[in-house]
Amino acid sequence: MEYVRQKIRDVYEFPKPGIIFRDLTTMFKDARAMHIVGWDLAQLYRDKGVTKVVGIESRGFIGGAIMAYEIGAGFVPARKPGKLPADTVRADFAKEYGTDTIEIHRDAITPDDVVVIHDDLLATGGTMAACYELVKSMNPKKVYINFIVELSDLHGRDNLPKDAEVTSLIVY
Ligand code: PRP
Ligand code: ADE
Repeated sequence: MEYVRQKIRDVYEFPKPGIIFRDLTTMFKDARAMHIVGWDLAQLYRDKGVTKVVGIESRGFIGGAIMAYEIGAGFVPARKPGKLPADTVRADFAKEYGTDTIEIHRDAITPDDVVVIHDDLLATGGTMAACYELVKSMNPKKVYINFIVELSDLHGRDNLPKDAEVTSLIVY
Protein backbone atom coordinates (compact mmCIF):
# COMPACT_ATOMS: atom_id res chain seq x y z
CA MET A 1 0.00 0.00 0.00
CA GLU A 2 3.03 2.29 0.46
CA TYR A 3 3.50 2.10 -3.31
CA VAL A 4 -0.06 3.37 -3.82
CA ARG A 5 0.29 6.14 -1.24
CA GLN A 6 3.37 7.46 -3.01
CA LYS A 7 1.40 7.82 -6.24
CA ILE A 8 -1.10 10.23 -4.65
CA ARG A 9 -0.20 13.86 -5.41
CA ASP A 10 -0.67 16.73 -2.94
CA VAL A 11 -1.98 19.94 -4.50
CA TYR A 12 -1.90 22.92 -2.16
CA GLU A 13 -4.65 25.58 -2.03
CA PHE A 14 -7.04 23.66 -4.34
CA PRO A 15 -9.93 24.19 -4.89
CA LYS A 16 -9.81 26.91 -2.18
CA PRO A 17 -7.13 28.52 0.01
CA GLY A 18 -6.28 26.33 3.02
CA ILE A 19 -7.14 23.00 1.40
CA ILE A 20 -4.51 20.32 0.66
CA PHE A 21 -6.09 18.38 -2.19
CA ARG A 22 -5.12 14.70 -2.26
CA ASP A 23 -5.13 14.11 -5.99
CA LEU A 24 -5.86 10.47 -6.80
CA THR A 25 -5.61 10.89 -10.58
CA THR A 26 -1.86 10.31 -10.33
CA MET A 27 -2.59 7.01 -8.57
CA PHE A 28 -5.37 5.96 -10.96
CA LYS A 29 -3.14 6.48 -14.01
CA ASP A 30 -0.52 4.08 -12.63
CA ALA A 31 -1.29 0.51 -13.74
CA ARG A 32 0.34 -1.19 -10.77
CA ALA A 33 -1.36 1.11 -8.26
CA MET A 34 -4.74 0.50 -9.93
CA HIS A 35 -4.22 -3.22 -9.75
CA ILE A 36 -3.29 -3.13 -6.06
CA VAL A 37 -6.20 -0.86 -5.13
CA GLY A 38 -8.75 -2.86 -7.13
CA TRP A 39 -7.62 -6.11 -5.58
CA ASP A 40 -7.46 -4.78 -2.02
CA LEU A 41 -10.91 -3.18 -2.25
CA ALA A 42 -12.37 -6.47 -3.46
CA GLN A 43 -10.60 -8.48 -0.73
CA LEU A 44 -12.35 -6.45 1.97
CA TYR A 45 -15.83 -7.48 0.78
CA ARG A 46 -15.48 -10.78 -1.09
CA ASP A 47 -17.07 -12.97 1.57
CA LYS A 48 -19.75 -10.62 2.88
CA GLY A 49 -22.61 -11.47 0.53
CA VAL A 50 -22.58 -8.02 -1.06
CA THR A 51 -25.16 -7.62 -3.84
CA LYS A 52 -24.77 -3.89 -4.69
CA VAL A 53 -21.90 -1.42 -4.64
CA VAL A 54 -23.00 2.23 -4.54
CA GLY A 55 -20.34 4.54 -6.02
CA ILE A 56 -20.47 8.28 -5.29
CA GLU A 57 -20.04 10.66 -8.26
CA SER A 58 -17.56 11.13 -9.67
CA ARG A 59 -14.38 9.69 -8.22
CA GLY A 60 -16.30 7.00 -6.35
CA PHE A 61 -17.38 5.52 -9.69
CA ILE A 62 -13.84 4.31 -10.42
CA GLY A 63 -13.10 2.12 -7.41
CA GLY A 64 -16.78 1.29 -6.93
CA ALA A 65 -17.14 -0.19 -10.40
CA ILE A 66 -13.94 -2.19 -10.05
CA MET A 67 -15.05 -3.55 -6.68
CA ALA A 68 -18.50 -4.48 -7.98
CA TYR A 69 -17.01 -6.34 -10.94
CA GLU A 70 -14.45 -8.17 -8.81
CA ILE A 71 -16.89 -9.38 -6.14
CA GLY A 72 -19.77 -10.13 -8.52
CA ALA A 73 -22.10 -7.37 -7.29
CA GLY A 74 -24.20 -4.83 -9.19
CA PHE A 75 -23.19 -1.15 -9.40
CA VAL A 76 -25.44 1.77 -8.39
CA PRO A 77 -24.41 5.38 -9.09
CA ALA A 78 -25.10 8.05 -6.45
CA ARG A 79 -25.19 11.18 -8.57
CA LYS A 80 -25.09 14.97 -8.43
CA PRO A 81 -28.57 16.54 -8.75
CA GLY A 82 -30.57 16.40 -11.97
CA LYS A 83 -28.52 13.66 -13.63
CA LEU A 84 -30.59 10.55 -12.92
CA PRO A 85 -33.57 10.11 -15.26
CA ALA A 86 -36.10 8.17 -13.13
CA ASP A 87 -37.64 8.71 -9.68
CA THR A 88 -34.97 9.48 -7.03
CA VAL A 89 -34.36 10.00 -3.33
CA ARG A 90 -32.11 12.99 -2.59
CA ALA A 91 -30.25 14.71 0.24
CA ASP A 92 -28.43 18.04 0.67
CA PHE A 93 -25.20 18.15 2.66
CA ALA A 94 -22.05 20.13 3.55
CA LYS A 95 -18.57 18.90 2.54
CA GLU A 96 -14.97 20.10 3.07
CA TYR A 97 -15.12 22.87 0.49
CA GLY A 98 -18.80 23.61 -0.10
CA THR A 99 -22.33 22.23 -0.19
CA ASP A 100 -23.84 19.70 -2.54
CA THR A 101 -26.78 17.40 -3.23
CA ILE A 102 -26.80 13.69 -3.97
CA GLU A 103 -29.44 11.51 -5.60
CA ILE A 104 -30.04 7.77 -6.02
CA HIS A 105 -32.76 6.07 -8.04
CA ARG A 106 -35.56 5.08 -5.70
CA ASP A 107 -35.64 1.53 -7.10
CA ALA A 108 -31.84 1.03 -7.03
CA ILE A 109 -31.73 -0.78 -3.67
CA THR A 110 -34.21 -3.34 -2.27
CA PRO A 111 -34.63 -4.98 1.18
CA ASP A 112 -32.82 -8.09 -0.16
CA ASP A 113 -29.61 -6.17 -0.80
CA VAL A 114 -26.34 -6.12 1.10
CA VAL A 115 -24.67 -2.84 0.14
CA VAL A 116 -21.18 -1.33 0.15
CA ILE A 117 -21.10 2.43 -0.36
CA HIS A 118 -17.73 3.36 -1.87
CA ASP A 119 -16.09 6.75 -2.30
CA ASP A 120 -12.49 7.63 -3.15
CA LEU A 121 -11.94 9.81 -0.09
CA LEU A 122 -13.32 10.64 3.36
CA ALA A 123 -12.81 14.31 4.34
CA THR A 124 -15.51 15.78 6.65
CA GLY A 125 -17.83 12.84 6.03
CA GLY A 126 -20.71 15.02 4.81
CA THR A 127 -20.98 13.29 1.45
CA MET A 128 -20.92 9.76 2.86
CA ALA A 129 -23.28 10.52 5.77
CA ALA A 130 -25.87 11.84 3.32
CA CYS A 131 -25.45 8.87 0.99
CA TYR A 132 -25.66 6.42 3.89
CA GLU A 133 -29.01 7.89 4.98
CA LEU A 134 -30.37 7.62 1.44
CA VAL A 135 -29.32 3.99 1.14
CA LYS A 136 -30.67 3.16 4.62
CA SER A 137 -34.03 4.70 3.68
CA MET A 138 -34.40 1.86 1.16
CA ASN A 139 -34.08 -0.71 3.99
CA PRO A 140 -31.32 -3.04 2.75
CA LYS A 141 -30.21 -5.93 4.97
CA LYS A 142 -26.81 -4.36 5.67
CA VAL A 143 -24.78 -1.30 4.63
CA TYR A 144 -20.98 -1.13 4.68
CA ILE A 145 -18.92 2.02 4.06
CA ASN A 146 -15.58 2.07 2.23
CA PHE A 147 -12.98 4.60 1.09
CA ILE A 148 -9.61 4.40 -0.61
CA VAL A 149 -8.28 7.41 1.36
CA GLU A 150 -9.24 8.79 4.79
CA LEU A 151 -8.11 12.25 5.96
CA SER A 152 -8.07 11.56 9.71
CA ASP A 153 -7.34 15.15 10.78
CA LEU A 154 -10.81 16.17 9.55
CA HIS A 155 -12.45 13.54 11.82
CA GLY A 156 -14.92 12.47 9.15
CA ARG A 157 -15.62 9.21 10.96
CA ASP A 158 -17.27 11.21 13.74
CA ASN A 159 -19.90 12.33 11.22
CA LEU A 160 -20.68 8.78 10.11
CA PRO A 161 -23.23 6.67 12.00
CA LYS A 162 -21.71 5.03 15.06
CA ASP A 163 -22.98 1.58 14.08
CA ALA A 164 -21.60 1.72 10.51
CA GLU A 165 -18.73 -0.62 9.57
CA VAL A 166 -16.16 1.63 7.89
CA THR A 167 -12.95 0.65 6.07
CA SER A 168 -10.28 2.68 4.29
CA LEU A 169 -7.09 1.55 2.56
CA ILE A 170 -4.90 4.60 3.22
CA VAL A 171 -5.08 6.98 6.20
CA TYR A 172 -3.46 10.46 6.21
C1 PRP B 1 -14.93 14.70 -3.03
C2 PRP B 1 -14.63 13.25 -2.74
C3 PRP B 1 -15.78 12.87 -1.85
C4 PRP B 1 -16.05 14.15 -1.07
C5 PRP B 1 -15.47 14.03 0.31
O1 PRP B 1 -15.84 14.78 -4.04
O2 PRP B 1 -14.59 12.49 -3.93
O3 PRP B 1 -16.94 12.50 -2.57
O4 PRP B 1 -15.41 15.21 -1.79
O5 PRP B 1 -15.69 15.19 1.06
P1 PRP B 1 -16.49 15.20 2.45
O6 PRP B 1 -16.07 13.98 3.23
O7 PRP B 1 -16.07 16.48 3.09
O8 PRP B 1 -17.95 15.18 2.13
P2 PRP B 1 -16.26 16.12 -4.79
O9 PRP B 1 -17.50 16.63 -4.15
O10 PRP B 1 -15.09 17.04 -4.85
O11 PRP B 1 -16.70 15.62 -6.23
P3 PRP B 1 -15.97 14.81 -7.41
O12 PRP B 1 -15.79 13.38 -6.92
O13 PRP B 1 -16.97 14.88 -8.51
O14 PRP B 1 -14.66 15.45 -7.72
N1 ADE C 1 -12.59 15.95 -1.14
C1 ADE C 1 -12.85 16.69 -0.05
N2 ADE C 1 -11.70 17.13 0.49
C2 ADE C 1 -10.70 16.67 -0.31
C3 ADE C 1 -9.29 16.77 -0.26
N3 ADE C 1 -8.69 17.47 0.70
N4 ADE C 1 -8.58 16.17 -1.23
C4 ADE C 1 -9.21 15.47 -2.21
N5 ADE C 1 -10.53 15.34 -2.30
C5 ADE C 1 -11.27 15.93 -1.34
